[in-house]
Amino acid sequence: MYYSRIIGSGGYLPERVMSNAELEALVDTSDEWIQARTGIRKRHIAREDETTSEMCYYAARRAIECAGVAPDSIELIVVATSTPDLIYPSSACLLQRRLGIRNGAPAFDVQAVCSGFIYALSITDQYIRAGAMQRALVVGADMNSRILDWRDRTTCVLFGDGAGAALLERSDSPGIYKTLLHADGSYSDHLQVPSGVSKPSADPFIRMRGNEVFKFAVQAMDEIVGETLADTGLQQQDIDWLVPHQANQRIIAATVKKLGMSMDQVILTVGEHGNTSAASIPLALDAGLRDGRIKQGDIILMEAVGGGFTWGSALVRY
Ligand code: COA
Repeated sequence: MYYSRIIGSGGYLPERVMSNAELEALVDTSDEWIQARTGIRKRHIAREDETTSEMCYYAARRAIECAGVAPDSIELIVVATSTPDLIYPSSACLLQRRLGIRNGAPAFDVQAVCSGFIYALSITDQYIRAGAMQRALVVGADMNSRILDWRDRTTCVLFGDGAGAALLERSDSPGIYKTLLHADGSYSDHLQVPSGVSKPSADPFIRMRGNEVFKFAVQAMDEIVGETLADTGLQQQDIDWLVPHQANQRIIAATVKKLGMSMDQVILTVGEHGNTSAASIPLALDAGLRDGRIKQGDIILMEAVGGGFTWGSALVRY
């Protein structure tokens, strides 16, 4: 029986930092409101000439260096993003080119908005478990600044840009115990960018019913914990770290309370990054691994909710 385990991580955030005070100059908002309702203090915003695949590249390179593997040994590249450079080729193919990998490994994108990294991790885990691959690169990246309406205070204060990456390798023991994926497309109106290729519109920006998303997220994150632990032999109290999608500190706090955990057991980055969509979990994971909080053998629960709605989780021993 095979499992996959994480052998390296990396993150990238654009250089430019935008504070809440700067947003006060753009829309009718305040630092106090943003911090009290979301926990966000600042976010990173990409340069005009920066691309998603470039952000992926820096995060991936750090993960590859961290794992100490040769890029050519990577047998699969999956990028989770809702903000690709181009309609096609996929960001994964563009990343493969930037990494100089020419071994014919498959590369493709996954689009599940803020749950994208969990979706990509789960897909990759299935390949490794099945014995089809030994080593794979999973990246979550989003350039939300390009799809924000900077005149809409209900959305523009919430999001940021970034990328995070993880290298997975086949192992005889977990590793990833379990991943769970869910979707319910009947909620597609609650959180969307109402423009695309076959349905272009004059509104290419994130539109969200914040309250509805909030309520759904708190409930879904609560319900998925028991479902994730089932049949793993692990209990709630075995979880050392929660590495959640970072949309709103209040959503995270509600999950932590229901889990009977403490906020000290959460890798929290929303204050510094805002909501970076598919990048938020791998960026938080990378932060926890690099500063030594997450140690070898620790049990980590990752969970996310995103547009679709999509939601999912991963239970991992580092
Ligand atoms: N600054 C100041 N006031 C703002 C504001 C802003 N940036 N955005 C909204 N408001 C106002 C609203 O207009 C409303 O005013 P009103 O009462 O006069 O109508 C008031 O603040 C309260 O708005 P409400 O939407 O009820 O606030 P909230 O406590 O639900 O917080 C969100 C709003 C968006 C922070 C919250 O709903 C949320 O985080 N939702 C989930 C978002 C999410 O996770 N999205 C991504 C999922 S992957």
